[in-house]
Amino acid sequence: MNYLRVVVVVFLLGPYLIMLGRGASGNQISARRVINLAHRQSAWTPILQTSANLSDIRSIRSFFEFRTLDPEGTIFYGDTKEGKDWFVLALRDGIPEMQIGKADILVSIKGGRRLNDGAWHLLELRSEGKFVVLEVNNNPELVVGLRSELTEDELTGKIRLGLGGMLVDKQKLFNPFQPDMDACVRGGHWLNLSTLWDTDPTWDPRPCFSEIKRGSYFPGTGMVTFNTSDLPGVKTEEAGITIQIFGSWTGTLLSLQSTDFEYVLGELDEHTDVKVQMGLKEGSETAALPREPAALTFNILKHSLVVNSKPDRETESLDFFSMWKKGMLLTFGGVPGESEDAKRSHHLRGCLEKILVQEQVIDLDQALYKHSTVSSHSCPTEAMNELT
Ligand SMILES: *[C@@H]1O[C@H](CO)[C@@H](O)[C@H](O)[C@H]1NC(C)=O
Ligand SMILES: *[C@@H]1O[C@H](CO)[C@@H](O)[C@H](O)[C@H]1NC(C)=O
Ligand SMILES: *[C@@H]1O[C@H](CO)[C@@H](O)[C@H](O)[C@H]1NC(C)=O
Repeated sequence: MNYLRVVVVVFLLGPYLIMLGRGASGNQISARRVINLAHRQSAWTPILQTSANLSDIRSIRSFFEFRTLDPEGTIFYGDTKEGKDWFVLALRDGIPEMQIGKADILVSIKGGRRLNDGAWHLLELRSEGKFVVLEVNNNPELVVGLRSELTEDELTGKIRLGLGGMLVDKQKLFNPFQPDMDACVRGGHWLNLSTLWDTDPTWDPRPCFSEIKRGSYFPGTGMVTFNTSDLPGVKTEEAGITIQIFGSWTGTLLSLQSTDFEYVLGELDEHTDVKVQMGLKEGSETAALPREPAALTFNILKHSLVVNSKPDRETESLDFFSMWKKGMLLTFGGVPGESEDAKRSHHLRGCLEKILVQEQVIDLDQALYKHSTVSSHSCPTEAMNELT
């Protein structure tokens, strides 16, 4: 019974996200405005957090509009007793999932419709006695009842809320997930709190575009790096490794690096005709790269690299298969370690609608490194209007 209450309280708070004072950050904003939950370095820390006295909580209801194309990530979090009792709402496979930790109980419950369709959905979380209810577009979709004999009914102390992250260690999760959430929230009412929320100091607040489509958006300021040993490997020697990229872009598409090897597939000059530079950085060969929606197939064979069926670089002295397995850096959108000026002029700009490695879709949220300006799951449609 006590457990339920705590949960209820958490729910109430949840909708009104407030930033917890984090001393160092200093910045505070209202959690009722349009908020882009992506674009920070610290994957687990909330973008916004706040706290309130439980005795001040008047409403156990939070609601907000939510829009994403991302299948997985943290939406919001609440806790009491400094994190001893906690709650998190996340998405997995696009479907809402709640996890709750209280006394000796850990709960994970997932259900309802897929929310990652790029449309705005109204989410509401509230406490009803011993139950927590999640409504989507005014339909109850998930109801959790909880009870523990081990806890006391305690409605004093603080409640903490977080948006886009959690305040307890991820080890406490019952069912781990990938936290990065490329999503926007607007019109939030969080337990009817009107306090300002503290922002994550690594957050790079970005606009929410009025219309989005599937893809990974590179605004021309950063790149994403994978360790190839984390990606699908060679199946047959003849076929090698195939990387397929669909989208429309200018700038450096990808690069491969290991200790004594570097390969860059990019353009020479984005102000004249768009060209692809092939071969080593100093590259000798160019080919036209379409500005319009394009598809590019990059093949890695044991001793050669092939672009759109055209052999580009061959070397008997290197074994690309063992290099791939051991771990090269595969970077989309730039070349790690290049000077800042070079980076700026050649960073990829555009929308990579789909990246396949060995026919598997690659999720940029799984990368070793992702620059905070890159949107992993959404591109603006042509009309780049921003929501404010
Ligand atoms: C919470 O309560 C304490 C003590 O009652 C008070 O000092 C503090 O200012 C309150 N905090 C908020 C956010 O109202
Ligand atoms: C929410 O807050 C507003 C203003 O602070 C107040 O007028 C309203 O009654 C509150 N609603 C609830 C349910 O407490
Ligand atoms: C890539 O992964 C391999 C194997 O796990 C590891 O040995 C290597 O250090 C990693 N490289 C980087 C840059 O993280």
